[in-house]
Amino acid sequence: MIKQKCRSCKSKLKEIINLGKQPLGNAFLKKKDFEKEYFYKLNVVFCNNCKLIQLENQPDPKKMFHKNYAFFSSTSNNMKLHFKKFADLLIKKQNLKKDSFVIEIGSNDGIMLSNFKNKKINHLGIEPSANVAKVAIKKKINTTINFYDSKLAIKIKNTHGLADIIYSANVICHIPKVDQLFKNIKYNLKKKGLFVFEDPYFGDVFKKNSFDQFYDEHVFLFTVTSVKNICKKFGLELINVSKQNTHGGSMRYFIAHKGSYDLKKKVSTYLNVEKKLGINNFKKLKQFKKNIDQNKQKFNSLLMSLKNKGKHVVGYAATSKSTTVLNYFNTDPNLIKYISDTTPIKINKFSPGKHIKILDYSFFKKNYPDYAILFAWNHQNEIIKKEKKFKENGGRWILFIPKVKILK
Ligand code: TYD
Repeated sequence: MIKQKCRSCKSKLKEIINLGKQPLGNAFLKKKDFEKEYFYKLNVVFCNNCKLIQLENQPDPKKMFHKNYAFFSSTSNNMKLHFKKFADLLIKKQNLKKDSFVIEIGSNDGIMLSNFKNKKINHLGIEPSANVAKVAIKKKINTTINFYDSKLAIKIKNTHGLADIIYSANVICHIPKVDQLFKNIKYNLKKKGLFVFEDPYFGDVFKKNSFDQFYDEHVFLFTVTSVKNICKKFGLELINVSKQNTHGGSMRYFIAHKGSYDLKKKVSTYLNVEKKLGINNFKKLKQFKKNIDQNKQKFNSLLMSLKNKGKHVVGYAATSKSTTVLNYFNTDPNLIKYISDTTPIKINKFSPGKHIKILDYSFFKKNYPDYAILFAWNHQNEIIKKEKKFKENGGRWILFIPKVKILK
């Protein structure tokens, strides 16, 4: 019995895949903390009414976004470029001037807002994780260390006025009180303002079997259908969408006050694509679980056979996604020697749940293994390009999305 009701329309929810007992995706830990490690039940559920895909349980956001948050957006050069390109486009298309006002919800280390700051455009970053926010503040990006709630929405309106742009990347899917959020957006947005957000897209997750997009932080994986339905409740309108390659396949949603812009055809095109794909259909969604379970079998037996052949296998990038994979696959931690990562705060800690050691990337560079599991598969092109030497040394990549395979 699922007690949780849909976080948007309050209808009953149905289980798509139960990913079992999981630790927090980003909770890399020290040995002394193994005993008191926090676990929760990761169950992916579906609302047959508004079609919103969500987690049954989400840990308290304060457990996830705090002074030691382990994700720094600026670790990827591709992402820096991605945000710069979009900031430039917004400035041009929306004719943003110095006295315009841009808000970013979940501004992390300022990767996006730096583009507005450099052009002296008024901006405000909202970021509850103090350590990443402080990096932005150091770069002189206006940032408030806070969750975006109604109290803050009122304060922003009183201090800065209404926003031309409210932007958010990979954050809206983190916020459980989605209705309250859309209400606040409606309140903070100028008449001709735009709320633009981009998040991992469930259409891609379904097609690629990338179930690792489900972890504590991602309480929702949106679709065009579900976003359209939420907007409707608040006098907002989904006016355009744009497919993105980031984070393994994302969707950018453009939202405005109802009636303030013409609707682009792409919205109805994607509504039809989603119908055909079956992601609004509970029966078709159950196939997703079957695919994942096949990959689970193949992944564990591949690692076991490599171990039996005396091969060295490591993980590449200690992503939050890897936490879901290793814990749902219940992979024997002895099959993976370590996970290489570039984020200082993760180094020499252990992976959540499975307790595989995280070693600094410099170790990987000096001691190429036989095989590396590409946990940051969403940065595949960038990584494979920069790791030519690994391949030249005989190293091979192991992929598990969409199917388990060794890259030729
Ligand atoms: P990402 O896929 O963005 O992570 P998440 O699943 O947590 O959202 O990858 C970020 C993590 O991957 C971060 O810990 C740094 C690491 N990383 C590397 O170690 N090397 C790389 O080349 C890249 C792109 C990421």
